[in-house]
Amino acid sequence: MIKVGVIGTGVMGAGHARFINQNVSNAQVIGISDINVSGMQALSDELKTIKFQTTNPEELAQNPEIDALLIASPDQFHADQLRLALKYKKPTLCEKPLASTLEDARAITKEIDEVEASLGKKLINIGFMRRFDPGFIKVKEVVNSGKLGKPLYVRVVSRNHFSPGTTSEGILINSAVHDFDIYRWMFNSEWESVQPFHPRHTDQAPEDVKDPLIFIAKMKNGIVLMANASANGAAGYDTRAEVVCETGSVELGPFGDVAVRTLDNFEANKGGKMEINWMKKFEQAYIDELKAWIAEIETGVVNTNFATHRDALIANETAQLGADLFR
Ligand code: NAI
Repeated sequence: MIKVGVIGTGVMGAGHARFINQNVSNAQVIGISDINVSGMQALSDELKTIKFQTTNPEELAQNPEIDALLIASPDQFHADQLRLALKYKKPTLCEKPLASTLEDARAITKEIDEVEASLGKKLINIGFMRRFDPGFIKVKEVVNSGKLGKPLYVRVVSRNHFSPGTTSEGILINSAVHDFDIYRWMFNSEWESVQPFHPRHTDQAPEDVKDPLIFIAKMKNGIVLMANASANGAAGYDTRAEVVCETGSVELGPFGDVAVRTLDNFEANKGGKMEINWMKKFEQAYIDELKAWIAEIETGVVNTNFATHRDALIANETAQLGADLFR
């Protein structure tokens, strides 16, 4: 049994804790850390497996009963809390992004490199869970089968229903960062350029937040992403992607179903009632990611599907390219 400590028990931390306890048979959350004491207590009452609760994450990291850490605090705390994981040599799954600034992302990457090299093993995974999503995996399979010819460009939709506190830069560094990871994973190519645009402003967003965002991003293999990321006002949590290939296309719909489109059979995606956030849409991805993480800790066999801190640094750097042009 792998005993997990969760740092940050908001939407994601509580979600991961429930998934670990309910869906991962050989792991249990026994410790939690958050600055919000009443929120922690409510989660502890719900889970009934919590032995340790603390406002100080270092207490969890150093606790010998805790085998592994899951970091789900706000982005700006990831780098410092990863330092605790390195200090106490705890295998850790840290939510994306690696850090909220490029400076922090580069510094923590160097520190992770050094500790992992000295231990001779991987300690840190970053929670780019779309790599475990059955829909994205299916799209990658269809593209790689070659039956639609080579991929040319991708039409991407990433819309949040509401995102209190987000900034113009944050739309890229917190949200579009998923796109910079998943299409690099899908097409096995590096990014070359990112060009952001702000179309007509939505009054659903604060005046100083350039929402919605449109961006064109080009990969070194020539594939182009035509993407929309919105933080506020969308009709629910709406993520879609259509990979357009030479003789057809494949679209991942808002409900995770995959439609393949050719002249002979043009499939449509499902419709229905939308959710206001990501938990339901990516539930299977989160569960499969957690199972893979625990299996990696138990067996010591590296799962190469995970985003490493180096992959996450590239996603941060690419998002920053766009953010620098989008202030
Ligand atoms: P949230 O605001 O719901 O929860 C954050 C929690 O962290 C709160 O309970 C807050 O009290 C706590 N917190 C604040 N400062 C802290 C500190 N210094 N140490 C420990 N806890 C602290 O935010 P949410 O949506 O759960 O996001 C958490 C992380 O997960 C973020 O990094 C975000 O980018 C990422 N995320 C990932 C998603 C994915 O699909 N992979 C989806 C949404 C968020």
